[in-house]
Amino acid sequence: MDNRRAFLKKAGALVSAFSAHSLFQELHAATWSELEERYRHLEPLEMAQNEDYWAVIQQGYSASASPVIILNNGGVSPSPIVVQQAVERFNTMANQGPSYYMWKILDQGRENLRAALAQLGGCDPEEVAINRNSTEALVTIIYGLDLQKGDEVIGSTQDYPNMMQAWKQRAMREGIVYKQLTFDFPIENDDIIVEAYRKAITSKTKLIHLTHVVNWNGQIMPVRKICDMAHAQGIEVIIDGAHSYGLLDFKIPDLGGDYFGTSLHKYLSAPIGSGMLWIKKEKIGKVWPLVCAGDPKSGDIRKFENLGTRSFPIEQGIGEALNFHNAIGTKRKEERVRYLKDYWAQKAKEIPGVHIHTSLKPEFSCALAGVSVEGLTPGELERELMLKYKIHTSPISVENIHLVRVSPHVYTKLSDLDRLVEALKKIASQV
Ligand SMILES: Cc1ncc(COP(=O)(O)O)c(C=O)c1O
Repeated sequence: MDNRRAFLKKAGALVSAFSAHSLFQELHAATWSELEERYRHLEPLEMAQNEDYWAVIQQGYSASASPVIILNNGGVSPSPIVVQQAVERFNTMANQGPSYYMWKILDQGRENLRAALAQLGGCDPEEVAINRNSTEALVTIIYGLDLQKGDEVIGSTQDYPNMMQAWKQRAMREGIVYKQLTFDFPIENDDIIVEAYRKAITSKTKLIHLTHVVNWNGQIMPVRKICDMAHAQGIEVIIDGAHSYGLLDFKIPDLGGDYFGTSLHKYLSAPIGSGMLWIKKEKIGKVWPLVCAGDPKSGDIRKFENLGTRSFPIEQGIGEALNFHNAIGTKRKEERVRYLKDYWAQKAKEIPGVHIHTSLKPEFSCALAGVSVEGLTPGELERELMLKYKIHTSPISVENIHLVRVSPHVYTKLSDLDRLVEALKKIASQV
């Protein structure tokens, strides 16, 4: 709590070269300080149900007034208004003279931003590279590691397609062996998952590719346990944290992995097209950069930021997303979003003909949950929700997972979730 208040006081001082002009400071600091003062006695779990508090947060997002109810924040999340304004401000500045304002002025914010991202991730800034998304972060690792023909990598068929394809391409080109497990989610026993990875290991296994929060049904994987088991056998772990950073309350090094990639435009609500790569300090030197602009064997994490010309306004807008996020606090946000998921899913699972495909135990899920209605395919249910009720969700049919994914965010109103539950009732009664 004290940390958060201190943060509000010097919100701009941490992030971006434009700290003195932090829009968050201008727009929200006074109101949020008062709010903090009023509710600081509440623990995150209690705060999760405090609608007065969350009503103020909702006002910070233009998406809360969307005519269509947006329940696919797991796909990509909207930015708060303050973040949108920051990007516009930086964009206007950049277009007054791009090579000067982007490379000489906006770029001055990069190191402060790195420090702020590292602070949220509980890691060393020298382990953090800023890029455009999880895909870029993770394929940098997948293509950047030396592996020999016959070396084995273990992943799952429920990892993200871009990463599976990257591994398959390496298997085709170089003869590495890419093995994939398939899980019968939801699973409420960590040992089942850890054992599945353990059993797949052979003397040739070099790496495990692991998704922290499975995007298809929201299962939170026992990352630490898998990493400890793998490390005991000299195997490295790449963690896909697309759905965890900026939502779950953890420190990246505590996960126990060697490499971690995330998209900042998901639960952190940073500008669309922003991501982050983390590599354990001593491993940076051995990863070949995708785009080499200097010494490829350098131990400086900045070697992964040579992406050619890209949007500095988007990058610097991340700073305001961090201000917004930190003023709420990660644990509080995690508990609120989990509460929102439980709010609709607990009601939905009581409706005859409706099934929930996600564990509702807190350790196994947070924002994302899957729902299905007997007699309807995921595509049919998604279309019905959109066409008749103007509720936007995501249909999933992957391997053994067939559901409609629902993912609220901090700006989601309870009344929107009530509409979802009513819609599911009507749809299920009419099949
Ligand atoms: C688990 C997971 N990994 C990676 C990605 C890719 O994210 P991006 O498109 O931002 O690169 C996604 C996107 O939804 C995802 O769900």
